[in-house]
Amino acid sequence: MFLVISSSLHPNSRSRILARACTEQLQEIGREVTLFDLAIKILPACDGASAYADANVKELSGLIHAAEGIFVASPVYNYDVNAAVKNAVELTGRAWTGKVVSLMLAAGGQGSYMSAMGLANSLMLDFRCIIVPRFIYATGDAFEGDGLADEEIQGRVTTLVSETMKLADALNRTL
Ligand SMILES: Cc1cc2nc3c(=O)[nH]c(=O)nc-3n(C[C@H](O)[C@H](O)[C@H](O)COP(=O)(O)O)c2cc1C
Repeated sequence: MFLVISSSLHPNSRSRILARACTEQLQEIGREVTLFDLAIKILPACDGASAYADANVKELSGLIHAAEGIFVASPVYNYDVNAAVKNAVELTGRAWTGKVVSLMLAAGGQGSYMSAMGLANSLMLDFRCIIVPRFIYATGDAFEGDGLADEEIQGRVTTLVSETMKLADALNRTL
Protein backbone atom coordinates (compact mmCIF):
# COMPACT_ATOMS: atom_id res chain seq x y z
CA MET A 1 0.00 0.00 0.00
CA PHE A 2 1.19 3.49 -0.85
CA LEU A 3 0.16 6.37 1.38
CA VAL A 4 -0.54 9.90 0.15
CA ILE A 5 -0.70 12.54 2.89
CA SER A 6 -2.40 15.82 1.96
CA SER A 7 -1.44 18.38 4.58
CA SER A 8 -3.13 21.63 3.56
CA LEU A 9 -6.00 22.78 5.75
CA HIS A 10 -7.22 25.24 3.07
CA PRO A 11 -10.69 24.38 1.66
CA ASN A 12 -9.53 25.04 -1.93
CA SER A 13 -6.02 23.73 -1.55
CA ARG A 14 -3.76 23.35 -4.58
CA SER A 15 -1.43 20.84 -2.95
CA ARG A 16 -4.53 18.67 -2.37
CA ILE A 17 -4.97 18.67 -6.17
CA LEU A 18 -1.42 17.29 -6.42
CA ALA A 19 -2.25 14.67 -3.76
CA ARG A 20 -5.36 13.60 -5.67
CA ALA A 21 -3.54 13.46 -9.00
CA CYS A 22 -0.86 11.30 -7.38
CA THR A 23 -3.52 9.03 -5.85
CA GLU A 24 -5.28 8.65 -9.23
CA GLN A 25 -1.98 7.88 -10.97
CA LEU A 26 -1.21 5.13 -8.45
CA GLN A 27 -4.69 3.67 -8.95
CA GLU A 28 -4.25 3.82 -12.72
CA ILE A 29 -1.11 1.70 -12.57
CA GLY A 30 -2.87 -0.78 -10.27
CA ARG A 31 -1.21 0.05 -6.95
CA GLU A 32 -3.09 0.04 -3.67
CA VAL A 33 -3.23 3.57 -2.28
CA THR A 34 -4.66 5.39 0.75
CA LEU A 35 -5.17 9.15 0.77
CA PHE A 36 -4.97 10.67 4.27
CA ASP A 37 -6.19 14.28 4.27
CA LEU A 38 -5.22 16.31 7.33
CA ALA A 39 -8.11 18.70 6.62
CA ILE A 40 -10.54 15.80 7.17
CA LYS A 41 -8.74 13.70 9.76
CA ILE A 42 -8.00 16.35 12.35
CA LEU A 43 -4.91 15.67 14.45
CA PRO A 44 -4.27 17.17 17.89
CA ALA A 45 -1.21 19.39 18.36
CA CYS A 46 1.73 17.25 19.45
CA ASP A 47 2.35 17.67 23.17
CA GLY A 48 4.76 14.76 23.49
CA ALA A 49 2.26 13.12 25.87
CA SER A 50 -1.48 12.38 25.61
CA ALA A 51 -1.81 13.37 21.91
CA TYR A 52 -0.29 10.02 20.89
CA ALA A 53 -3.44 8.27 22.13
CA ASP A 54 -5.72 10.12 19.67
CA ALA A 55 -7.58 7.76 17.29
CA ASN A 56 -6.58 9.68 14.13
CA VAL A 57 -2.94 9.71 15.25
CA LYS A 58 -3.05 5.95 15.78
CA GLU A 59 -4.68 5.44 12.37
CA LEU A 60 -2.05 7.59 10.63
CA SER A 61 0.82 5.86 12.48
CA GLY A 62 -0.53 2.48 11.37
CA LEU A 63 -0.82 3.62 7.75
CA ILE A 64 2.72 5.08 7.73
CA HIS A 65 4.08 1.92 9.31
CA ALA A 66 2.35 -0.29 6.72
CA ALA A 67 3.14 1.87 3.68
CA GLU A 68 5.55 0.71 0.95
CA GLY A 69 6.17 4.38 0.22
CA ILE A 70 4.75 7.75 1.25
CA PHE A 71 3.90 10.84 -0.80
CA VAL A 72 3.55 14.11 1.11
CA ALA A 73 1.73 17.03 -0.51
CA SER A 74 2.13 20.31 1.36
CA PRO A 75 1.66 24.03 0.97
CA VAL A 76 4.78 26.20 1.26
CA TYR A 77 4.38 28.34 4.35
CA ASN A 78 7.19 30.69 5.38
CA TYR A 79 9.78 28.91 3.22
CA ASP A 80 8.93 25.52 4.72
CA VAL A 81 6.18 22.90 4.67
CA ASN A 82 3.13 23.84 6.73
CA ALA A 83 2.84 23.27 10.46
CA ALA A 84 0.17 20.58 9.97
CA VAL A 85 2.56 18.15 8.31
CA LYS A 86 5.36 18.94 10.75
CA ASN A 87 2.86 18.20 13.53
CA ALA A 88 1.86 14.93 11.83
CA VAL A 89 5.52 13.84 11.70
CA GLU A 90 6.00 14.79 15.37
CA LEU A 91 2.95 12.68 16.28
CA THR A 92 3.93 9.62 14.25
CA GLY A 93 7.73 9.68 14.67
CA ARG A 94 9.32 6.27 14.41
CA ALA A 95 6.61 4.90 12.09
CA TRP A 96 8.57 6.73 9.34
CA THR A 97 11.74 4.69 9.88
CA GLY A 98 13.35 3.70 6.59
CA LYS A 99 10.40 4.75 4.42
CA VAL A 100 10.72 5.92 0.83
CA VAL A 101 9.26 9.43 0.80
CA SER A 102 8.35 11.76 -2.08
CA LEU A 103 7.48 15.41 -1.63
CA MET A 104 5.09 17.66 -3.57
CA LEU A 105 4.72 21.37 -2.82
CA ALA A 106 2.26 24.06 -3.85
CA ALA A 107 3.69 27.57 -3.51
CA GLY A 108 2.73 31.16 -4.14
CA GLY A 109 5.90 32.05 -6.06
CA GLN A 110 9.01 30.55 -7.67
CA GLY A 111 11.48 31.71 -5.01
CA SER A 112 10.69 29.18 -2.28
CA TYR A 113 11.71 26.12 -4.30
CA MET A 114 14.07 24.79 -1.58
CA SER A 115 11.26 24.70 0.99
CA ALA A 116 11.02 20.90 1.05
CA MET A 117 14.57 20.56 2.35
CA GLY A 118 13.80 21.10 6.05
CA LEU A 119 11.32 18.22 6.09
CA ALA A 120 13.56 16.11 3.81
CA ASN A 121 16.53 16.60 6.14
CA SER A 122 14.57 15.84 9.28
CA LEU A 123 13.11 12.65 7.78
CA MET A 124 16.55 11.55 6.57
CA LEU A 125 18.44 12.37 9.75
CA ASP A 126 15.81 11.41 12.30
CA PHE A 127 14.26 8.34 10.66
CA ARG A 128 16.70 7.34 7.90
CA CYS A 129 14.01 7.86 5.27
CA ILE A 130 15.01 7.53 1.63
CA ILE A 131 13.97 10.81 0.04
CA VAL A 132 13.21 10.47 -3.69
CA PRO A 133 15.53 13.00 -5.36
CA ARG A 134 12.75 14.47 -7.50
CA PHE A 135 10.32 17.01 -6.09
CA ILE A 136 7.19 18.59 -7.46
CA TYR A 137 7.13 22.34 -6.89
CA ALA A 138 4.05 23.94 -8.41
CA THR A 139 2.81 27.53 -8.47
CA GLY A 140 -0.58 28.91 -9.53
CA ASP A 141 -0.13 28.39 -13.27
CA ALA A 142 0.08 24.60 -12.71
CA PHE A 143 -3.59 24.54 -11.67
CA GLU A 144 -6.90 25.27 -13.33
CA GLY A 145 -10.06 25.19 -11.21
CA ASP A 146 -9.89 22.03 -9.12
CA GLY A 147 -7.54 20.19 -11.46
CA LEU A 148 -4.06 20.31 -12.97
CA ALA A 149 -3.63 22.88 -15.74
CA ASP A 150 -1.97 20.80 -18.43
CA GLU A 151 -0.13 17.66 -19.51
CA GLU A 152 3.22 19.07 -18.43
CA ILE A 153 2.34 19.09 -14.72
CA GLN A 154 0.45 15.80 -15.06
CA GLY A 155 3.64 14.40 -16.61
CA ARG A 156 5.64 15.53 -13.58
CA VAL A 157 3.21 13.69 -11.28
CA THR A 158 3.44 10.57 -13.47
CA THR A 159 7.25 10.70 -13.38
CA LEU A 160 7.34 11.21 -9.61
CA VAL A 161 5.06 8.20 -9.13
CA SER A 162 7.10 5.95 -11.43
CA GLU A 163 10.46 6.98 -9.89
CA THR A 164 9.04 6.38 -6.40
CA MET A 165 7.72 2.95 -7.44
CA LYS A 166 11.13 2.01 -8.83
CA LEU A 167 12.91 2.90 -5.59
CA ALA A 168 10.25 1.51 -3.24
CA ASP A 169 9.90 -1.79 -5.13
CA ALA A 170 13.67 -2.30 -5.20
CA LEU A 171 14.12 -1.51 -1.51
CA ASN A 172 11.09 -3.46 -0.31
CA ARG A 173 12.25 -6.51 -2.33
CA THR A 174 15.52 -6.59 -0.43
CA LEU A 175 13.93 -6.37 3.03
C1 LIG B 1 0.96 31.61 6.07
C2 LIG B 1 1.36 31.51 4.64
C3 LIG B 1 2.71 31.53 4.32
C4 LIG B 1 3.11 31.40 2.99
N1 LIG B 1 4.45 31.41 2.71
C5 LIG B 1 4.86 31.25 1.43
C6 LIG B 1 6.26 31.20 1.12
O1 LIG B 1 7.13 31.31 1.97
N2 LIG B 1 6.61 31.01 -0.18
C7 LIG B 1 5.68 30.88 -1.19
O2 LIG B 1 6.06 30.71 -2.35
N3 LIG B 1 4.35 30.91 -0.92
C8 LIG B 1 3.91 31.08 0.37
N4 LIG B 1 2.56 31.09 0.64
C9 LIG B 1 1.60 30.86 -0.44
C10 LIG B 1 1.14 29.38 -0.44
O3 LIG B 1 2.25 28.50 -0.58
C11 LIG B 1 0.17 29.10 -1.60
O4 LIG B 1 -1.00 29.85 -1.35
C12 LIG B 1 -0.15 27.63 -1.77
O5 LIG B 1 -1.08 27.47 -2.81
C13 LIG B 1 -0.71 27.04 -0.49
O6 LIG B 1 -0.95 25.65 -0.66
P1 LIG B 1 -2.42 25.08 -0.60
O7 LIG B 1 -3.17 25.77 -1.74
O8 LIG B 1 -2.28 23.61 -0.83
O9 LIG B 1 -3.02 25.39 0.73
C14 LIG B 1 2.14 31.26 1.95
C15 LIG B 1 0.77 31.26 2.29
C16 LIG B 1 0.39 31.37 3.61
C17 LIG B 1 -1.09 31.33 3.94
